[in-house]
Amino acid sequence: MPSPPPPLLLLLLLLGVAAEALEPITVGIAIGAASALTGYLSSPRFYCAFLECCPGDKDRPNGTALKLNLDEKLFGQHLAKEVILKAVTGFANNPNPKKPLTLSLHGWAGTGKNFVSQIVADNVHKGGLKSKYVHLFLSTLHFPHDHQIKLYKDQLQKWIRGNVSACAKSVFIFDEMDKLHPGLIDAIKPFLDYYEQIDGISYRKAIFIFLSNAGGDLITKVTLDFWKNGRAREEIQLKDLEPVLSIGVFNNKHSGLWHSSLIDRNLIDYFVPFLPLEYKHVKMCIRAEIQARGNPLDESIVEKVADEMTFFPKDERIFSDKGCKTVQTKLDFH
Ligand SMILES: *[C@@H]1O[C@H](CO)[C@@H](O)[C@H](O)[C@H]1NC(C)=O
Ligand SMILES: *[C@@H]1O[C@H](CO)[C@@H](O)[C@H](O)[C@H]1NC(C)=O
Repeated sequence: MPSPPPPLLLLLLLLGVAAEALEPITVGIAIGAASALTGYLSSPRFYCAFLECCPGDKDRPNGTALKLNLDEKLFGQHLAKEVILKAVTGFANNPNPKKPLTLSLHGWAGTGKNFVSQIVADNVHKGGLKSKYVHLFLSTLHFPHDHQIKLYKDQLQKWIRGNVSACAKSVFIFDEMDKLHPGLIDAIKPFLDYYEQIDGISYRKAIFIFLSNAGGDLITKVTLDFWKNGRAREEIQLKDLEPVLSIGVFNNKHSGLWHSSLIDRNLIDYFVPFLPLEYKHVKMCIRAEIQARGNPLDESIVEKVADEMTFFPKDERIFSDKGCKTVQTKLDFH
């Protein structure tokens, strides 16, 4: 139960003044009205409408809204859409999860990984990324110095423990996972496991999202093979990618460290692949951005911005180098 908000004090004070100045009957009415108001003001419903509260057991993300969000904002990622929707709604509707939800998002820059973590955050917590229950860590920003690893480790464990004990449904997002020191992976690992409790705290309702470029080259290769064989991109199934992804990432010297230890123990629930984006998807991003800014849609500008992006492989020029990443700055220019 949250503590009563300050307006209550004011109300009680007024009541005191009224009691001195008015007739008994009026005072009686005033007291009745005030106590009704007091009940409402100190109820979680009122309180949480203004100040953010940790979602309770009955507060679940709205699956329809999540799907709508993904449909409207994420382009060219039929697999990611499907996996995220299933993972998040499944987890939210499970009253008794055996471990926290752990999602590992893979793909090249600009393909929508950050976008998806933002959408998930928005749907679990009212404040989205700004919520006090959503925590974003960037390896190069938050944990830049290798020699301070011990400090980071203690700090990170303390943060996770502190935040989950304040709100069981906390969301932790780790960006640039491939640059995260293996020592920090070890620090997070116990929280991801199948423990009922650690020192009296259960981590089973929390969500951990890991973002990395690892596996991006393999995902591109599979996507390119489909294209070369004249097959639709939407025909790519998870099973075409999942083994490639986990084995490929597993064996990659630069990203294998973190992955091997998490995969070994089956601590990652879902691998979410992000495919490289084509010209038409880049145009969709541009249109969405123009509309989000409340500007009228002008196809000539859409085309101009899209044509400024660079595409690979050198000969075929199918996929955007930076996905949709530079769309915003390029659009500022026009
Ligand atoms: C879920 O979201 C949809 C679409 O935004 C909305 O129409 C519906 O009322 C929401 N349901 C609940 C229970 O909030
Ligand atoms: C929660 O995490 C943030 C970092 O995102 C940290 O600054 C804060 O101290 C943590 N809160 C607790 C209670 O540990």
